[in-house]
Parts: sequence; structure tokens; C-alpha cells
Amino acid sequence: MTVTPTRAVGTDFDRVEAAEKVTGTARYAYEHAPDRDTVYAVPVQSVIARGEVVNVDTDGALTLPGVIAAVWHGNAPRLGPADDPELALFQSRRVAYRGQLVAGVIAETLETAREAARRLRVEYAQEPHDVVLRVDHPKMYKPSKVNPAYPTDTEYGDPDAALEKAAVTVDLTYSTPAEHNNPMEPHATVAVWENDGLVVYDSNQGSSAVRDTLAGLFGLPPDAVRVIAPHVGGGFGSKGTPRPGVVLAALAAKVTGRAVKVTMTRQQMFALVGYRTPIIQRVRLGADEDGTLRAIVHDAFEQTSTVQEFAEQTTTPTRIMYAAPNRRTTHRLAPLDVPTPSWMRAPGECPGMFALESAMDELAIACGVDPIELRIRNEPETDPESGLPFSSRNLVACLREGAARFGWADRDPAPGVRREGRRLVGTGVAAATYPAYRLPSRATARAEPDGGFTVRIAAADIGTGARTALTQIAADALRTAPERVRVEVGDSALPTASLAGGSSGTASWGTAVVRACEALLRELDRYGGRRPQEAAADTTAEVEAAERLSRHAFGAQFAEVGVDVDTGEVRVSRLLGVFGVGRVINPKTARSQFIGGMTMGLGMALMEEGVMDVEFGDYLNHDFAQYHIPACADVPDIEVHWVDEVDDRLNPMGSKGIGEIGIVGTAAAVANAVHHATGVRVRDLPIRLDRLVG
Ligand code: MOS
Repeated sequence: MTVTPTRAVGTDFDRVEAAEKVTGTARYAYEHAPDRDTVYAVPVQSVIARGEVVNVDTDGALTLPGVIAAVWHGNAPRLGPADDPELALFQSRRVAYRGQLVAGVIAETLETAREAARRLRVEYAQEPHDVVLRVDHPKMYKPSKVNPAYPTDTEYGDPDAALEKAAVTVDLTYSTPAEHNNPMEPHATVAVWENDGLVVYDSNQGSSAVRDTLAGLFGLPPDAVRVIAPHVGGGFGSKGTPRPGVVLAALAAKVTGRAVKVTMTRQQMFALVGYRTPIIQRVRLGADEDGTLRAIVHDAFEQTSTVQEFAEQTTTPTRIMYAAPNRRTTHRLAPLDVPTPSWMRAPGECPGMFALESAMDELAIACGVDPIELRIRNEPETDPESGLPFSSRNLVACLREGAARFGWADRDPAPGVRREGRRLVGTGVAAATYPAYRLPSRATARAEPDGGFTVRIAAADIGTGARTALTQIAADALRTAPERVRVEVGDSALPTASLAGGSSGTASWGTAVVRACEALLRELDRYGGRRPQEAAADTTAEVEAAERLSRHAFGAQFAEVGVDVDTGEVRVSRLLGVFGVGRVINPKTARSQFIGGMTMGLGMALMEEGVMDVEFGDYLNHDFAQYHIPACADVPDIEVHWVDEVDDRLNPMGSKGIGEIGIVGTAAAVANAVHHATGVRVRDLPIRLDRLVG
């Protein structure tokens, strides 16, 4: 057999499941229909923010024809341990936040289940709640680490003395609100018990992890649980850990012996799937007259729930961005009676870089130095805190290329002086960064009798194009054409894999796929090409033995805005990003990731804001009528480029992750542009009309 070797990586290979998706045959979790008669479970949420469930009167619900059961603490089966107490569904009477699940109702139809849920009488013992984050909150404490495992605080040199002595200082406080994950496909599960095992069709970012969690909760060996998720309509981190809905589905299926469907409504998601914590950040920078940094101090104040600690790693990007001998970063956390915050696209880097990159703009103005020049002047040679060499770092190249493409050279730095009709126009820049993680995974590769290949790995394609990228990676590793490779993902029955999180998917799964393919080629060699052959790989040892390096992607974000002089309406007219992200596996799908991230960053800058109703103790604008995200008309021409960068020290593909860096820095670039346009510095997101006019 002769195969023409094609270099698939680096080409705009079409999504392998494109036809299924555009013809509607690609099935998402809720669309799966097991053979068993399917019934519907509806989650019932607490209407108090703190207290106890005293009783649930199910009589009114159960008399409704078609209602099968109502489950709550008083009658729910006991569950085994879970790492996340949010998943210990109905195991306690305690209510830790408004919106927490207190019961579930199961009926023959969705409509009946919803009506029965409405008729459930939940009696509470309400306690006063505390839902407002403030820097001087008496319960503010220092967590032992921040997400996922970074030191809480760092300190080098004597930052206080250096700030005292610095020729130029800025001392600024920024705030970002609660922001809520809204993937297009809501969280959904279909669960069915079969032969003492559990099968769930579930929308998630990693079926291996969901399998392990369900096995722990229901006291099963992991291989008695199967989690199937061939297609997932986005997650942004909200599906990175199992959420209560999947447990409700499994529990309801166990109680009724039926196949059970659960989906969260858009409104329910606001409390139940994790959101980005509101954060108050103080940034102090001390510099010489020419902008050379002497001290950087970055403090973050955040909230978590009383159920589960989530400590957003807000100041971690500051640890690697700029050279300065004296530096300190800290995180403090207030446990409040609020839903548990969790991962949302670039947790940490995204809000942290809003503050740092706004402060760098303010310092540039204070020093009279161009903001791009200021960043270049403070470029470190090695990681400024760990001292480790960077695997690769092309921030300066991104800034320079971005400046050339955007037309930065002609910029008049004076704020508030360019008027076009009703609008004041301005431009801004900010840097971006995101870590290049890699996690252990397993994969198998098989040479089929027909000359094709099958690669199996429990990876998750959440709409990013992961399946396609892995097909290209496998094709090159097998020295065949991508059309001959079939990649199977999205099923916990496949070799165990890490989750689609931390922009680590392609690097983690790609490494396992390459190693499995290499092993397969050796097998084929050994047996004179005789098929079928199969080989497996486990990258645990390789990942653990990796060289000590500072591994990060970098980028530069540019924005142009127009601000209506009477209404304060901000329109973003241009966004341009240049990224240094290692080798780009598929330019077409990569571009979509960057554009998506930058669009979400635009929403963060101008729109997204969970508004806490202090009396009721919950985010009140929990729907798309009141919680705003960019619509097509809000999104301008977004230009995306990347610099030539192949980082062979990271993984066999030379790639860095691309799913999250696009959102990092966008909001600062927009806020900096708004300042340039108007002379008004907005340090509290989003940049609402009332923050500009008034
Ligand atoms: Mo992403 S927030 O790491 O899924």
C-alpha cells in the first residue's frame, strides 16, 4: 500500500463532523433517546439564600396525573463522597445559596414535571444572608492555594520600600462583576441504569472525569459508569466539572428505574453551573521616569460560596508579565451566601489582566511613555518570579506586529481630542497571556484492515474543533492523509483523557495521540505492515518528567472605539489581536477560537454584569433579556493574526493552547481606548453609559 504523505497540521482542514452538524444529525446530550421509556426530571431551586429545608410537602405535586416521584432530602438515597459538595444532592437540609437544588420532580412529560415542581411546597427556616463582596469583609481570609494549584501569595524584594522610593507611582483599584457562563447548549443529561451500571449522555468538557465522579457518588467501580458526549455545544469552563444536573438525572433514574432527561433552563444555569466571581483588585506600580518598573503589587479580593471554596487565580498573570525586582501578588477570599463561582474562560488571567493592563496604560500616561514602548521596556529575560527560562515568549513580536497592522505609529496620545460627528474616537492596547498546560492522557491507534486508521481517546470536542485537530495530528504522526484517519472522542469507554479545560486539550490529547500513532507504526514495522494492529500510549510519565520551564502563550490586543458624546454609548469599531501560541494546528478553527474569545472580551468590557439583589440574595438578571452579551451588530470586524512560533519544548506538535487567550486583555484594550477617546478612565466593568456620562 502506498500513501502519499501529506502534512495535515497547519492546513485549514474542514471540521470532520461539519456535515453532521449542518444537517442536524449530530446529536447533543438531550437528543439521545435510550430504548427505555424516557421520563423528565425538573430541578427545584431554593428561594432563600441561607437556612434549612424544614419539610417538602409533595402531596399537591404527586396527585397530578403523570407525576412519578419527588425527591428531596427527606427521601433521597444516600450518596457516596464527592470532591465537590455541590454534587451531594439532597444529602443535607442546609441551604447555602438562593438557587441551590432542594428537590427534583419526575414525570412522564416535561410539562407535567414543571407544573408539579411548581406545586411542591418547600418549607424553609430562613436565616439572614450575606451576599455582598467588599474588601473589608470580616470573613475575608487567605486560601491555602488558588485555582488550580498556584501559591496564594508571592513576594520578592521589598515592594513597599520600592514603591515609596519610586519616581512615578500609580495606586489604582479596579472591579469586575460576576460574569455568567452561557454556552449555547445548556447543561443536559439523559441517564439510564442498565445491568447495575449507569449510562449517561451528558454535555460536558471531559467524560472521564464525569465517570469518576458518578462512580464515587453511586458506589460503583468506574467501569460500571459510561459517559457519552459526542457533541457538546460549548462550556467555557462551566462543564469542566460535573454540575448538579448530571447527579439529579442519575439519582432520578435510580429512583424511578426509567431513563431520565434533565436539562437546565437558561435561568437555572445562572446559579448552578459556576460563574466568574466578582473581584476587587488593587494594583500599585512604581517606576523610574522612563517607565522602567521597580515595583509591582497586585492584590485581589474575591468571593466564594460557603459550600465549596473556589479561589480565582486573579493575580497569577502578574507573576510572569513584566520585569521588576520588587513584587508582591496576593489573593483573599470572602465566603458568602452565594452560588459557588467556578471556571469561566481564562479564570484568573482574564480579570487579572484587565486590572494589570489598565494600570500599565495609566502608568504609561503618568510617565509620558507610549504604552507599547512601556511594555517592551519591561520585558523580562526569564520568568521574573521563578527565574525559569520561558519555553518561548513572543510578546514583543506580537506588540510590534500588532502596532504595524493596526496603524499605531500615527496615534496622537492626547486623550479626548478626536471627534467624528457625534463620537469621540480612541484606540487602546493591552497584552494577553495564558499558561501552556499539558495533562496526562491515554490513547490508542489501530491500523484497520481496509488501510484506514482509528484513533481513540476520551477527549471532548466542545465545539472547538478538537476532533478535527486530533485527526490532523494523527495523520501526520501516521504519515497518512487525514481522510484515512477516524478519531473517536467523547465517550468514557475510550482511553481515559484529561478534560477540555485550561486550553490544554490539544497539547494533552495530541501528545497521547502522537505517541499511540508512533507505537502503532513500530508495530506495523515489526509485523511487516500486516493489519490489523493496535497500539496504546499513556503520557503520564512523559508529562511528569517534562523539563522545568515557564510555559505561556502571549498576545497583543488592539481596540478602536467611538463614544457618543451625549449618551455615552460605546461602540467598538475595530479589534485586532496578534498571538504567539506555538504551532497553529488548524488556522481556520484556531481563528474561530480567537474571534470567539475576543468577542467574549468585548462583552466583558461593555455588557456582562450579574447584578446582585441584596434583599433576595441572588443575581437578579438571570436571563438573556437582562444579562447582556454581544449580538452580531455589536461585534465589529475582528482581525486575528499570529506570529511564527514553534515551541518544540512543549509537546510533539510544538503547540500552545488557544481556547482562552483570546478573551485575555480584550477588556483592558477597550477600556484603554475609551480613556483615549474620552479622557474618562473607567476602572469598574462593564463600561456602562452611567460610568461615562454623569
Ligand atoms: Mo476553561 S475556563 O479552563 O474550560
